[in-house]
Amino acid sequence: MNRIIRASAPAKVNLVFEVGPLADDGYHPVNSLFLALDLREDLTLVAGEPGSGISIYVHGDTLPESHINSVPTDHHNLVYKTAILFAQKLNKPTPDLQIDIHKRIPVAGGMAGGSADAAAMLVAMNEFMHQEHGTTRLSIEELAAIGAELGSDVPFCLYGGMAIGTGRGQIIQPLDALPMETHWLLCASGKGLSTPTVFHEFDEIGNHGSFSDLNSFAQVSSIAELGSKMTNDLEPAAFSLMPALSDVVTRLEGLGAVRAMVSGSGPTIAALFESKAKAEDVATVLISEGLVALTASGLAAGARLDS
Ligand code: C5P
Repeated sequence: MNRIIRASAPAKVNLVFEVGPLADDGYHPVNSLFLALDLREDLTLVAGEPGSGISIYVHGDTLPESHINSVPTDHHNLVYKTAILFAQKLNKPTPDLQIDIHKRIPVAGGMAGGSADAAAMLVAMNEFMHQEHGTTRLSIEELAAIGAELGSDVPFCLYGGMAIGTGRGQIIQPLDALPMETHWLLCASGKGLSTPTVFHEFDEIGNHGSFSDLNSFAQVSSIAELGSKMTNDLEPAAFSLMPALSDVVTRLEGLGAVRAMVSGSGPTIAALFESKAKAEDVATVLISEGLVALTASGLAAGARLDS
């Protein structure tokens, strides 16, 4: 029987991204406020023919072809690594799998696209191994522990909502939801930025601040207040590597964004708007100029099985 398992996981923006100096483990300690958006990766999983190994098919119709084509479909894909690691953790052989990924999150864009794929795959594998091999389903905490070995943003993509991320970003403390919905325009770049390159540039600039208490965010009372509290320590590094990004920020704020800022390590610019209609209007303007502009709202649920 070839049951189809469907799972999805959200994109993230960092409302706050405070970054400390490089530590001995090769990572930077962070103090991050994550928000999940309803821009989701959809993943489907079916058993492959015996001996066929893992096949990955990636597609999407809202991102430039350059994004879709840059996603590896071999053992370099994080979803492939997730399948291997998950089976290993359960002491089972890696199953033969056919995996389909519908990408909506900009690739190498600072919005956790690869991590969302891994999070969706963890949820899908949890179900697949239960159905096919009778394994006990793991809890979200257990999935997050496996996810942390795959990438720093994977645990947040499992939890979704709004959360503080510490350590290298993988230690998640869920927060109460914001009292209002947030509406975003995401201006993606044709070319991605490598996360390690941006962190390296951050080290070169050498401008780390202190960590603040992020618990107060659950009490913000307006979109304007939220916008005024957004910060990203990696933004100067992303601007230094891609100087045109700062013009995009200025432009979006000129077009009515409450706040526009580099998302995570960039280069996607996340612009916060007072309303969904306003975000969509501005997206229409940018698209007519040939730019890649997506809209999304938050907060959104974490990785889940979809029927
Ligand atoms: O954890 P992830 O695989 O996403 O990290 C990719 C790279 O980004 C790391 O190898 C590291 O160079 C950099 N990074 C970092 N500090 C973090 C997260 C990532 O320096 N907190």
